Amino acid sequence: MIYKYCGHSGVQLPLLSLGLWHNFGSVDDFDTASQMILHAFDKGICHFDLANNYGPEPGSAETNFGRILHDSLAAHRDEMFIASKAGHDMWPGVYGTGSSRKNLMASIDQSLRRCRLEYFDVFYSHRYDGVTPVEETMQALIDIVRQGKALYVGISKYPADKQQQAYDILREAHVPCLLSQYRCSMFDRKAQLGGLPTREDPSKSNFRIAAAGGSGIICFSPLAQGLLTGKYDNGIPAGSRIAKASAFLHTSDVTPERIEAARALGEIARRRGQSMAQMALAWVLSDERVTSCIIGTSSVAQMDNNLQALDNLQFTDEEKQQINEIIYKPELSF
Ligand SMILES: NC(=O)c1ccc[n+]([C@@H]2O[C@H](COP(=O)([O-])OP(=O)(O)OC[C@H]3O[C@@H](n4cnc5c(N)ncnc54)[C@H](OP(=O)(O)O)[C@@H]3O)[C@@H](O)[C@H]2O)c1
Repeated sequence: MIYKYCGHSGVQLPLLSLGLWHNFGSVDDFDTASQMILHAFDKGICHFDLANNYGPEPGSAETNFGRILHDSLAAHRDEMFIASKAGHDMWPGVYGTGSSRKNLMASIDQSLRRCRLEYFDVFYSHRYDGVTPVEETMQALIDIVRQGKALYVGISKYPADKQQQAYDILREAHVPCLLSQYRCSMFDRKAQLGGLPTREDPSKSNFRIAAAGGSGIICFSPLAQGLLTGKYDNGIPAGSRIAKASAFLHTSDVTPERIEAARALGEIARRRGQSMAQMALAWVLSDERVTSCIIGTSSVAQMDNNLQALDNLQFTDEEKQQINEIIYKPELSF
């Protein structure tokens, strides 16, 4: 594994982190989930990305993670960097969602109990909810650190203006933003470019703002939830995220334009001696501002395949140009 410092901090993260959004819930096979977490740790993936609502059932990914941690990894807690988040719909009523102090304070206590942890290494505001003043959310994060419930804080998916405001408030309180989490893949460059390809606005680039603010950048869905693995090039395979009727990836996302692009990218990957997934991960990591990619996997074999991305992280100028010609198209974004 290769480790990289996170923004202007003393924390290093593995280039590949493991996310528990899908495949670790109560509906999933517990033994497979357990094998993936233990295998990840053995391979140096020491950063695990959770959120209160991951499942389904919401909360069950944290419960399963807590059980695996307790049964098999308890002696290794200090070798692990564990994240959770609050902000999306979690429990009934007006306090079970959003970016309010009320939601964050209740949520972190629930998440710590489910994970059987005394503290999280990093705790995020999962989203800007469009209403709650950023001051309120950031003060809750600052107080969470002061209470010893998290060592560091992060923000996820904050729009550019709120992102800058969050950094300013956190820096003033001497609780700097360790990590900023944004979606980024060859098919989604909005956070990187500040808008869709051909309509980008560098002043709104979340990556630029994070780098200038000293925050590490961690990217989610680097494989566009599987679209950048080649697995959908010839239909919807059984057992895939789409076949399982995920609420977040649909047959309608498999457009002819994305399949054509994935096939062309797959040709470049083959010439590089990589799988499509490996090249897609290497491409996200080739942006020097990125600290780590959070991958999701549904099997140990996928994880092993993805880990081999680290064997070739360099792109020639010719490869970069060929890739850019394929992906610099707004219609691929989603
Ligand atoms: N902050 C946020 O709001 C936010 C939002 C989304 C995600 N996240 C984080 O980011 C993590 C990763 O997101 P993601 O799951 O969408 O990531 P992803 O890496 O883009 O997609 C993962 C999926 O791609 C398929 N896959 C992975 N490796 C493969 C391989 N080598 N060959 C073939 N298929 C492969 C698997 O799907 P199949 O089921 O089809 O096998 C896997 O579940 C999440 O777990 C979560 O921690 C954060």
